Amino acid sequence: MSFPKGFLWGGATAANQLEGAWNEDGKGVSISDISTGGSAKQSKRFTPVFEEGTYYPSHVAIDHYHRYKEDIKLFAEMGFKVYRFSINWTRIYPTGFEDEPNEKGLAFYDDLIDECNKYNIEPLITLCHYEIPFEIVKKYKGFASRETIDLFMKYVTTVFERYKGKVKYWLTFNEINNGTNPVGGPLALGVLGDTENASEFIHPVNDDPEVRFQALHHTFVASALAVIIGHQIDPNFKIGCMQIMATSYALTPDPKDQILNQQHNHIMNWFCSDVQCRGAYPRYMNRYFKEHNINIKMLPGDTEILRDGHVDFYTCSYYMSFCQTTHDNREEVAGNMMGGTANPYLKASDWGWQIDPIGLRYSLNEIYDRYQMPIMVVENGLGAYDEKGEDGMVHDTYRIDYLRQHIEQMKEAVEDGVDLIGYTSWGCIDLVSASTGEYAKRYGYIYVNKFDDGSGDFSRERKESFYWYKKVIETNGEDLTDVDTTDLRP
Ligand code: BG6
Repeated sequence: MSFPKGFLWGGATAANQLEGAWNEDGKGVSISDISTGGSAKQSKRFTPVFEEGTYYPSHVAIDHYHRYKEDIKLFAEMGFKVYRFSINWTRIYPTGFEDEPNEKGLAFYDDLIDECNKYNIEPLITLCHYEIPFEIVKKYKGFASRETIDLFMKYVTTVFERYKGKVKYWLTFNEINNGTNPVGGPLALGVLGDTENASEFIHPVNDDPEVRFQALHHTFVASALAVIIGHQIDPNFKIGCMQIMATSYALTPDPKDQILNQQHNHIMNWFCSDVQCRGAYPRYMNRYFKEHNINIKMLPGDTEILRDGHVDFYTCSYYMSFCQTTHDNREEVAGNMMGGTANPYLKASDWGWQIDPIGLRYSLNEIYDRYQMPIMVVENGLGAYDEKGEDGMVHDTYRIDYLRQHIEQMKEAVEDGVDLIGYTSWGCIDLVSASTGEYAKRYGYIYVNKFDDGSGDFSRERKESFYWYKKVIETNGEDLTDVDTTDLRP
């Protein structure tokens, strides 16, 4: 069996990681704008007060704000059917508290959407990709306060009204289940433990699980309201959830490892999507909340909102997997936003993320068995150091290998019966890393000449993977073989 006709091939980005122009045309400061550069060895920091001389990657990123036409043209050249990007909330409501939207911010996304539609590229828009206005973080601790739901709905209603008829696919919160971990508090929920002093991204200060899970509840309600109101504004809207799928296996057949793994999966991989896809809290959370002294305050009507606002489709990021064990002889590995126990059968990327293409097939089956909803993989890719070859081109065969193996496994999943409708690989153009704030961790088919020491002119170049992915799309995933780049030198 092949990928279905009309399969949505494309790429994904987030405003804060590529637009730059952080304070242009009335844009306000988001949680990501107070985040410094870092590296695999040195955690990036949140600095509530901007530090003179400190580098903030989102402020320039890859200057997409001024170069979006060139970038969309390159995506069109690869044959993209869909492009996933986020609207930066702080371009539309700079602090979150304004009564009227910022027209210049709306105009930018008018142009970006028109540019996509010009090439028949379907926009897939994330409403909130780690871009909560910092003023809301300071005043309300982000979604920890119920008031933030109304601020979010004001923003969402504005963009839904503005782009109805031009945009069909929407995602509410990027990697919402990141909020089940301390590290996800600031980015996913706007819950920053110290809004006066600098703190490390990987060691969130003053994490309070009760506050974090309350904030998650408010994001669930906000997401469900967005689905309900979105369908009222435009019945053709398809509105999805977006999860980190951090696939996890029991390290050993020891039943204790199995239970530990099941519990981990419940909290990390299923809780949020159970609420968003099934429209209700799963029962296993009752015990978790009780054992962790977490009391969630729900208002009358919340249950109905969650029920009526279940999503139309499921989406996730998928990069890596890890294991769970109760045994001591384990090795720790890094991963997307969190680490885990190493799997002896897998190799890791330069950033320590264990590469597991078969885990994608396994997870897609698990997801589909659970929800029977259309699924899109909206992030997947290999963060790697790229060097130009003697001919001036980046021959990123390692990235092609990674992507090929994952696409092969998606095909297996389709054959297994999974209703997979699209694939947008992450960072289709090099951009700033979310976890480390680096340019050096590159994912793109398009190389961007910009470096962590501040040098670089932002020019764009096609990598070998650019031509490979073009062929993949042209053949609807049938031809995954290498490309000959001899005649394609820059
Ligand atoms: C996901 C995020 O966690 O993974 C993206 O949705 C992020 O924003 C991507 O960039 C890859 O992670 P990183 O840390 O390598 O940029």
